[in-house]
Amino acid sequence: MQALNTFGLPAVAEYYTEIHAADQLKQLEQWLKHHPMPLLLLGGGSNLVLADRVPGLVARIMIRGWQLSDLPGDHVRLRVGAGENWHATVERSIRQGLYGLENLALIPGTVGAAPVQNIGAYGVELKDRISAVEVFDRHEHRQRDLTPEACRFGYRDSLFKSSEPERYVITAVEFCLARQFTAEVSYAGLRDGLGDGPVTSERVFDTVCRIRRTKLPDPLDIGNAGSFFKNPVVSVEKYEQLKHRFQNLVAYADTGGYKLAAGWLIDQCGLKGFALDRAGVFAQQALVLVNLGAAHREDIEHLSMHVQKVVQERFGVILEPEPRFYP
Ligand code: EPU
Repeated sequence: MQALNTFGLPAVAEYYTEIHAADQLKQLEQWLKHHPMPLLLLGGGSNLVLADRVPGLVARIMIRGWQLSDLPGDHVRLRVGAGENWHATVERSIRQGLYGLENLALIPGTVGAAPVQNIGAYGVELKDRISAVEVFDRHEHRQRDLTPEACRFGYRDSLFKSSEPERYVITAVEFCLARQFTAEVSYAGLRDGLGDGPVTSERVFDTVCRIRRTKLPDPLDIGNAGSFFKNPVVSVEKYEQLKHRFQNLVAYADTGGYKLAAGWLIDQCGLKGFALDRAGVFAQQALVLVNLGAAHREDIEHLSMHVQKVVQERFGVILEPEPRFYP
């Protein structure tokens, strides 16, 4: 599975299958009934830290599909198969004059994996653009649509992550997009990158791609899983204490407190470019951990624990890893 996880970890699955159509899922259930074992649902493998041996069955979701229906007014519903590539979907939607996904360009992974961690970037979260998530419910043995509310989206979080993992197999995602472009440029880095000139969908898309290419390593060149830690949310009191001690602290007001830039915290500890065994902190963006070549899960885990320890000692803040460690 080395080519199926963006960290490039040398994982070997005990059993492996590919799902190309939603109706194969009933057969999969039957098979699992006779051969009980753990199940890992795999999309683009961009949010996983895999052990060398992956017990049980890995099912890679490769369901394709692109279905458009008009809504009254300027909006459309677009239903896309879970196995479609995320970035290709963003590109194709813009080419068809369907707007809303530009800020989420170049995020690695598949459409079906996007709701799991409610992907977000440059001022937009997936939850802002979703109208339904089509799932196969393994408890009820049927396919159904979940509303965005039922998905309980949060910052890099959702129902699919927080409770009963692998209960729902995401088979498609339905977006609500607009035929009229409205720019979302609240993120300062994006505004600066855009510079002067008219803000079009294409320019937002190109600018997001350019910013990401300068800061984030391409998994095809250097194994990684994007931001390795979530940006921690702290109370107003904790923020004020920290701000008093570290005047250039990077933080944004968030519901009930402040979200701190974890990349800044790690960077301030002098860890940018730091290496431990076969894993390293990326030199251009301290929030990204990278495979320096031939890394195993343990290398990533040791580096992650080291970063957590150093940041906690300096700032008293606990960083929570974003990718899933499996098993
Ligand atoms: N910073 C540093 N040093 C660093 C890295 C960052 O000082 O090494 C500072 C920057 O100067 C900036 C601040 O931290 O002031 C924030 O940095 P950046 O704009 O790069 O964003 P981020 O908070 O590190 C988050 C998301 C990214 C997303 C960007 C843009 C999380 C965990 N990460 O990163 O998402 O692309 O914002 O919206 O929320 C991902 O989840 O995999 C991911 C890449």
